[in-house]
Amino acid sequence: MKKKVKKILLAYSGGLDTSVSIEWLKDKYGAKIYAYSADVGQGANWQSLKEKALNTGAEKVFIDDIQDEFINNFAFKALKANALYEGKYPLATALTRPLIVQKMVEVCERENIDAVAHGCTGKGNDQVRFDVSFRTLAPELEIIAPLREWEFKSREEEMEYAKEKNIPIKVTKESPYSIDSNLWGLSVECGKLEDPWEEPPIDSYQWTNAPENTPDEPYYLTLTFDQGVPIKLNNQHLSPVEIVKNLNSIGSKYGIGRIDMVENRLVGIKSREIYEAPAATILINAHEQLESLTLDRETLHFKKTITDKYAEQTYFGLWYSPLREALDAFVESTQKQVTGIVKMKLYKGHCSVVGRKSPYSLYQYEMATYDENDRFEHKSAPGFIKLWGLPTETYARVNRENKDTLFLKDYVK
Ligand code: ARG
Repeated sequence: MKKKVKKILLAYSGGLDTSVSIEWLKDKYGAKIYAYSADVGQGANWQSLKEKALNTGAEKVFIDDIQDEFINNFAFKALKANALYEGKYPLATALTRPLIVQKMVEVCERENIDAVAHGCTGKGNDQVRFDVSFRTLAPELEIIAPLREWEFKSREEEMEYAKEKNIPIKVTKESPYSIDSNLWGLSVECGKLEDPWEEPPIDSYQWTNAPENTPDEPYYLTLTFDQGVPIKLNNQHLSPVEIVKNLNSIGSKYGIGRIDMVENRLVGIKSREIYEAPAATILINAHEQLESLTLDRETLHFKKTITDKYAEQTYFGLWYSPLREALDAFVESTQKQVTGIVKMKLYKGHCSVVGRKSPYSLYQYEMATYDENDRFEHKSAPGFIKLWGLPTETYARVNRENKDTLFLKDYVK
């Protein structure tokens, strides 16, 4: 016997799974189903999505445009941290989940809804992100994941059920891929991609030109950052969302931001996925290079250790953890001087920083130069080196005789 719930807010995408979920939830729980969709820049047809949800049995449909919030409070925080999961994935899918949950919780409070549902399967990362975020923000809500529970083993069985229940579902040509997209990037899995030896088929990439089909001339652009946040593209003030949209389109033209990786999922398995993240790739690269110019060595090196942890917390569904917040506080405090301009060159799938400047630049020409303007105190170097190497030198002297047990045995006769 299922727990009695009266109203369920379903995270709804309009795909087969969530469409069938509406009727299945009604059936199993005898509850009213409300559909929730978030506009994170995936470019859906919202009017037809709304109609579809109502036609397939939803009581009401809520559509939120959360693009600005997503970029400002999630993607750009990840940008300031240079967050890439396993050094590669800019976390597009992972970053939307905590915000979608926050918004769904708001709707539940407003509409007196006592349960939430999502279309995640039992072996993905997204179920963890949804569930942990719900349990953190609104522990009173019942969480239901039809795909973890229901009896259907294939798309055909789902369609059969839809037919039986008179759910009006158009039979569309099934894409071999599972695709999730938002402004920060696009994630593609399944189909031929499930063989990690197989090169991603041409049709698996959705946004970007293949590098071999990109223009033969490079494209130069400048990005202006203010305290770690991009504020201008090619010297033109644009909103955060506009900057990301523009970079996605320019980057796609030049084949930037294709990522093909085998990653470690939270639930213990490895999976192969490809990503397209032109804007995120360009911005993270530019931001990192501006930090190289403006952060002192110790902070810069220490911050690199934070980057991995930040990405992991995000990927692992722990956005609302105290650690992620503490890491954010650290990252934020490093960004005060990350202000300046970066010049980039896009060419055949690569984007490289070819120039950078900042009022807070710690690069001092008269320290770095080898010409007559050199002001570096060469004479201080021997004293510095003597003390710098003192611990190592001492260790070696004390242990010189003890050749068998020491690392020195390979070097000292
Ligand atoms: N593996 C990525 C993550 O866990 C993306 C998951 C969604 N991918 C998809 N093709 N639907 O964040």
